[in-house]
Amino acid sequence: GHGSARQVALSPRSRSYGRSCVEPPSLFWQTPGRLTALGQRTPTARGAAKAYNITVRMYTVALLVQNEWKLSYVTPLYRFQYTKLKLYSRHLAAFILAEKQQGVAVEVGMEAGFRVTFSAVFGLAEKEEDAETVFIQIYSKPMFAADTPKMVWRGWLTCVNGDPEYLRSLPPDFVSLPLFCSNGSEYLTARVKSWFGRTFDCSFGSLCLSSATLNWLAALWTGCHPTCDIGYLKLYWSMPTQPTLDVEYTVNPHDAWELWNSICAQDGAEDMVSVEEVQRFMAGLETHLFRHFKIYLSAGSLVKVSTALGSAHQDGKIKIGSSDYITTLLTLLTECALLKTPV
Ligand SMILES: *[C@@H]1O[C@H](CO)[C@@H](O)[C@H](O)[C@H]1NC(C)=O
Ligand SMILES: *[C@@H]1O[C@H](CO)[C@@H](O)[C@H](O)[C@H]1NC(C)=O
Repeated sequence: GHGSARQVALSPRSRSYGRSCVEPPSLFWQTPGRLTALGQRTPTARGAAKAYNITVRMYTVALLVQNEWKLSYVTPLYRFQYTKLKLYSRHLAAFILAEKQQGVAVEVGMEAGFRVTFSAVFGLAEKEEDAETVFIQIYSKPMFAADTPKMVWRGWLTCVNGDPEYLRSLPPDFVSLPLFCSNGSEYLTARVKSWFGRTFDCSFGSLCLSSATLNWLAALWTGCHPTCDIGYLKLYWSMPTQPTLDVEYTVNPHDAWELWNSICAQDGAEDMVSVEEVQRFMAGLETHLFRHFKIYLSAGSLVKVSTALGSAHQDGKIKIGSSDYITTLLTLLTECALLKTPV
């Protein structure tokens, strides 16, 4: 797996939460014996990106690719049962309609009602402790029976390579699917969250991505280049100038990989990536840009990373461009979601 030898568990109580977007991240994977005084995990290494076996899970992944997803974290669901997905579909549809009839939902439109589908998406879970992904689609039923229902919202809850010790420590009756991704109107997203909150006694919070998380993605995606054409590496920085200066930097994927390769060659473990390597890689890119444009990027913050494999924005929006290496992306995001989850 993903460097399991280096994973250490941290008791849920010592995790911190309620942090805002701008604070530095603390990530889950750490060399044993080096917990900081605060008990937070700082990343020192993670597994290199691994190709996703597309032949097995093509359908699953087709659902997730191409849309833009807004991320949230979710606390564990109380008494969520995979055998009751049909029932949940009916209850959520009824809930949305009832809320609409109370006059809250002016912007939803003229539909006669909603049809909701819940489905379990098998094959994304990596570890025994990971719960299976749940995918939800909401269709609006047209006023006229001849018209076809229109998909108005979709979303999913997932857990990929969740910290096993934390997951095992949850009381029975709880299912942890910490990463919630949605695409559709904010109104419907709010209704879905509210129904989940009432039904499973859980709560949601927004999930922003720190510069450190984006650095990891830039490095992990670049590392895929020899086996999978990443197309380009685009980086976006926001500079603390008046007015704010946004810097967009597109790196030729081959150049990015050469830089990455020159950095990684110095270290031993082929399938592990260390945080120092990631930092050296980003510093290398920044040096290059300084030489050309005389801008000190280290003064700014990285706000977005994009390759043909996907994109991720600081404000918690992602796009999955390709099903290759989806596990790597979802592992990282699951980790971010678990770190934000209040215990
Ligand atoms: C993907 O899975 C299939 C079926 O199990 C297997 O035959 C194939 O070799 C796998 N491909 C890779 C790249 O691992
Ligand atoms: C949903 O995904 C589409 C396709 O990528 C995107 O254009 C749209 O902005 C997304 N909508 C929301 C609300 O995230």
